[in-house]
Amino acid sequence: MRTVRLSIIGFGAVGQGVAKVLLAKKDQLEDIGLDLRVVAIADSRTAVIDTDGVDLGAVISRKKTEKTVGSQDMTGLEIIEKIDHELVVETTPTNIVTGGAGLENMFMAFRKGRDVVTSNKGPLAVKYKELMEASKLSGSKFRFEATVGGAMPVLNLTKDSLAGNRITDVEGIFNGTCNYILTRMTEEHAPYEQMLAEAQELGYAETDPTYDVEGIDTACKLVILANCVFGMNATYEDVTVTGITKITPEALLLAHNDGYVIKLIGEVNDSRINVAPKLVPIGHPLAVAGSLNVASVQTDLSGPITVTGRGAGSIETASAILSDLISIYRN
Ligand code: HSE
Repeated sequence: MRTVRLSIIGFGAVGQGVAKVLLAKKDQLEDIGLDLRVVAIADSRTAVIDTDGVDLGAVISRKKTEKTVGSQDMTGLEIIEKIDHELVVETTPTNIVTGGAGLENMFMAFRKGRDVVTSNKGPLAVKYKELMEASKLSGSKFRFEATVGGAMPVLNLTKDSLAGNRITDVEGIFNGTCNYILTRMTEEHAPYEQMLAEAQELGYAETDPTYDVEGIDTACKLVILANCVFGMNATYEDVTVTGITKITPEALLLAHNDGYVIKLIGEVNDSRINVAPKLVPIGHPLAVAGSLNVASVQTDLSGPITVTGRGAGSIETASAILSDLISIYRN
C-alpha cells in the first residue's frame, strides 16, 4: 500500500466534494494500492491538521454547521510551507486577474517539492508558463484536468488517449452556468436573472458569477487549452470575448423556431482564441443541454473526437481531481 499525504487548501464546494469522494472511494483506492491520507485542510479562516489523517466526515459536518473546518489558526500557505506532505489539492476560489491565493499556494508547493492537483483556473490563466517551469524545476507533478470542463475529460484526453495526434482545433461549450441559463431560458421562457439565481443555488456558478455570464470563465479555460494542448503562451488578453448577458428569451425563441439553439461557444486553434454566443442547429453534437459541457477536438489521425459531460458541480469536479490523483500515484 502506498500512503500519500495530502492537504486540501480551500474548502468550498469543490474542496468538500474532494473530501466526500475520498471518503466514498476509500476501499476502491485501497484495492489499487493507494492510501490517500488527508493530513490538513484549510478554508479562508481556519485549519485542521492531523498527521494521522483528518476525520473527513467530521470536518464536512463541522463546515456545514459551524462554517469552519477546524480551530487551528494556520493559513493554506503556511500549511503548504510547514506541514510535511506530498501533494496539495488546491481548490481556493479562482482569481483570474492576479491568480490570487491559488497562485501563491502553487508556487509555494513547488518550492517545497510537493505535487499539485487543482481545479483553480485563475493561476493557470495568468501564469501558465511560470507554473510549468516551477513544477519542472522542483520535479513536482502538476495536473489540472478539473480546470477545463469539470468531469468532462479533455486535457488528459488530448495528452494521453490522443497522444501522437496533432490537434488542429478544439471547439465546444466550457461553462456549465451559461449552458444551464440558456437551456432553462429556452425551456421556461424565463428571465435571465431568475435562471442565474438557479445556477448559483445548484453550485455551478463562480463565486463572482459575472465570470461565467460575461464569458470570462470560458476564456480562461480556452487559455489553458491553448497553452496545454497547442503549446502556446497565451493569456486572457489573447481571447476575444462576448458573454451571454444580452441574450433575451425572445432571441432564444426566434432561434428555436428556425431550428437552432444559442450556445456560448469557445474555440481555440493556432490562429484564434474566441468565445461568443453562436447559433447551433438543434441535434448538432455541440447542442448539449443543461449544465453539460462538450468539446469537439479535431485531430490529424483520428478526425473529430467529441466528448460531453457535466462541466460543473462539486462531485463532478472532484471526479476530475481524483482521476489526476490516481494517475500521479498509481504506478
Ligand atoms: N462556473 C464554472 C461553470 C464552474 O459554470 O462551468 C466549472 O468550471
